[in-house]
Order: sequence, then structure tokens, then C-alpha cells
Amino acid sequence: MSSKKTLLSGVKPTGRPHIGNYFGALRQFVDLQDDYQAMYMVADYHALNFIQNKEELNQSILDLTIDYLALGLDPQKSIIFKQSDVSEHTELAWIFDTITTMPYLMRAHAYKDAEAKDKEISVGTFNYPMLMAGDILLYDVDVVPVGQDQKQHVEYARDTAQKFNFIFKEEVFKLPESKIMPEVAVVPGTDGQKMSKSYGNTIGLFATLDEITKAVMSIPTDSKPITESRNPDEDNVFKLHKLFAKQDELLVLRERYQKGGMGHKESKEMLIKNIEAFIAPLREKREQLTHDMDFVLDVLKDGGKRAKVKAERKMEQVRNSIGVKLY
Ligand code: ADP
Ligand code: TRP
Repeated sequence: MSSKKTLLSGVKPTGRPHIGNYFGALRQFVDLQDDYQAMYMVADYHALNFIQNKEELNQSILDLTIDYLALGLDPQKSIIFKQSDVSEHTELAWIFDTITTMPYLMRAHAYKDAEAKDKEISVGTFNYPMLMAGDILLYDVDVVPVGQDQKQHVEYARDTAQKFNFIFKEEVFKLPESKIMPEVAVVPGTDGQKMSKSYGNTIGLFATLDEITKAVMSIPTDSKPITESRNPDEDNVFKLHKLFAKQDELLVLRERYQKGGMGHKESKEMLIKNIEAFIAPLREKREQLTHDMDFVLDVLKDGGKRAKVKAERKMEQVRNSIGVKLY
């Protein structure tokens, strides 16, 4: 038995990842594999709230799995699986639905945000914190690494574990802790707002040189003459330099911004070069994987089997606890 703590996280296969997702979440996934018994999930049943098209969902699941592998998630170290391969997730979500109240779910940020936007919300979206609680609690997870925006959902999982243990008078579920990934001071998008799929201001994590160039060139900048001094911390291009430039390079850049004489064009060209140097190996790895789909599918199949064994064991305990298990 390994003495390592258990960790689980997941990503919805909806849309392509951008560099904000990488610095905010995915990079930590890779780093955590060595210290934890990690499980990384392709949250395809969560994605069904957004994608209701067979071919598109198929492709999104494969894309995210390839992304995971290209970034360095290693099936020898971690269990990489898709949620729909382990039907216990949805079974457990149902059981949680029965002990959860509507007002409690109505307090979830994700629900409130959707409501504020006047969206007609599906029951799946409304319930989604309970499916996420199922994802986490099925595996006696110690730690859930998530971005700040998902913290409340981990708290919901924790509350639900406590409520279940209380109602059924048995310590069935372990209480998970969220591990908030260090704030990489929100990665700005090409328009200066937070980089986000929903704002259309992203730089793709596997973007081509052309796409990187186009995105960086579109970043709005001030219209001061080159010779004038600029505050680097208020400059959108510099904020991105912070993620990609080496420490010494960054120091020089900072000085040149402050002294004046650093033109936007030069700064952007340098940024393009640095982003390309960072992305090129990832893009290459990704490209190789797309030519080895048997391997990619095997990773998911094998991960699904390993997760299923754990989930089945836990669900036996749950069914027994709630009183539906007779033999
Ligand atoms: P999006 O806003 O593009 O829809 P998601 O909400 O799917 O992104 O976020 C997935 C993960 O990436 C979350 O853990 C979130 O905290 C992180 N993330 C997303 N955008 C950024 C950003 N601009 N800066 C830092 N982290 C981010
Ligand atoms: N809800 C998460 C998101 O939107 C994805 C997710 C689903 C997840 N199940 C999870 C994250 C379990 C951590 C643990 O980003």
C-alpha cells in the first residue's frame, strides 16, 4: 500500500485549453503526480450540460485526453480516466440529490451566475455540485486541486460527506480538502481582461506560431511615444512576459520599460518568441499523440478499469449504509 495521499481533479472536455488554464490549473496537475496518488478525470458527464452532439463530445473527450498526456500527465504515475466509464459517479450523485435541498444548491455561485445572466438552467447544471461531490467522495480523496473558482464546489462535497455520515450514522466518506492552486495573478487575455473562453481573448495552449503572432499583435497598448517611461505592471504585454521570460530577461525588460525606449513592437516580438519556445515542444508532443490513438484509448480504458475497481468497492459500502443492500 502506498502511503501517499490521494488526489483527484477533473476538467470538463469543452473547448480548447488556453494558457490561463495552464498556469491556473494544468501545470500543477503535472507537478502533483509525484507526491500524491493522483487521479485525473475527463469530466464528460459534466460536459454534457454544454455539448449535446455525439461527434463533438467524442472529439472533445479525445482532445482533452491528448492534452493531458501532451502536458505530461503520466499513466504510470496517475489514473487518467473518463467519468462516464465509472457509472458509480452518477449513481452516487443521485443518492446525494436525495439528501440535498434546493435552497442549498441555489446558493452555489455557478447557479447564481447562470441565473444572473438570465439563462434557462438545466437540471443537470443545477445539480452539478452533487455530481462533483460524487466524483470526489467515491475515491476517499484527501486533496482536490482546483482554481479559486471551484473552491465552493469542494466545500459542497465536504458538506455532503458530513451530512451523509450524520444521516446514516456511519463514517462512510472522508472529508476532502481543496488545494487552491497558487494564484498566478489571473492570466490576462489579449484584451486585458481575465483570459477566458467566454471572452474570446485566449491564446491557445497548443496554438501555432501564426495563431500566437495574431493573438499577441492584437493586444491593445498605450499610444505613448517609445521614448517615454512606462509602468510595466500596467502593461498587458509585460504581464504575459512575466509568465514566459527568464528571470534575468525579465529584469532587463522591466528596466527598459521604466527607462523608456522599449517599443510595443519589440516587446511583442519578444513575447511571441518566448511563447513559441514554450509551446512548440507541447505542440509537437500533442501532434505525435494524435498519430497514436490506440495508446490514447488504452490509457483511458485502463484508467477507467482501475477507477471502477475503487468505485465499486465504495458503492458497496454506500448501498449497505443506506439500506438497499440485501445480499
Ligand atoms: P474559462 O474561463 O476559459 O472557461 P475554466 O473556467 O474552464 O476557464 O477554468 C478551468 C481552470 O483554469 C480553472 O481552475 C481556472 O481557475 C483556471 N483558469 C481559467 N482562466 C484562467 C486565467 N485567466 N488565469 C488563471 N487561471 C485560469
Ligand atoms: N467542475 C470543475 C470545473 O468546471 C471540473 C470538475 C468536475 C472537477 N469534477 C471535478 C474538479 C472533481 C475537481 C474535482 O472546472
